[in-house]
Amino acid sequence: MANSKEETPIVLSRRDVIKGVIAAGAVSSAGYLFRTASRHVHASAPGSVERLVTLNVNGQQRRVDVMKQETLAMTLRYKLGLTGTKLGCDRSECGACTVLIDDVPHYSCSVLTHTARGKNIVTVEGLASADGKLHPVQQGVIDEQGFQCAFCMSGFLMATVGFLKTNANPTRAEMAHGVSGNLCRCQDYNKILNALMRGAELSRKA
Ligand code: FES
Ligand code: FES
Repeated sequence: MANSKEETPIVLSRRDVIKGVIAAGAVSSAGYLFRTASRHVHASAPGSVERLVTLNVNGQQRRVDVMKQETLAMTLRYKLGLTGTKLGCDRSECGACTVLIDDVPHYSCSVLTHTARGKNIVTVEGLASADGKLHPVQQGVIDEQGFQCAFCMSGFLMATVGFLKTNANPTRAEMAHGVSGNLCRCQDYNKILNALMRGAELSRKA
């Protein structure tokens, strides 16, 4: 028999919530976070602390309201609208969320946003020049058509840009090792390496 008990209606879809947060710019993600965890948890957890902080993202000072337990990936995607940073595993396993923090690749799903204050954060949106010219590593992907679905692409790009700052002229094996913290679900590694090596070559010429 069907249970006729009334369920609490969900007024907004997840997409509606995300769009609203991006539009607002500096709205807490508590509603999104807790809605997905349980419909019985209220949007504002008792004792939670929300703080307005300034982040340096892609050379811009961005004011944003950040919860103390919020990860950088969540802030970038759902507060600042920088959805080029992807969320795959959300637990430091796939690298899809990789961004640069002070030129070092980090899994943004595992960095608390508050710890990134005062640091230079670069996402995939910040790679191209202001005039639209692609970063050499991005151009390498275009030249070699290196990705299949490309869900993993922005993470690989950021990992590569960070790696090339430590080794501008890597061998293919060194490049493979340098981006080994990034996984591709399409298993397109050979073509990805072709693209990244082409990007390294273009970077040296730039
Ligand atoms: S989403 Fe961050 S490592 Fe997978
Ligand atoms: S190209 Fe599809 S996950 Fe990498």
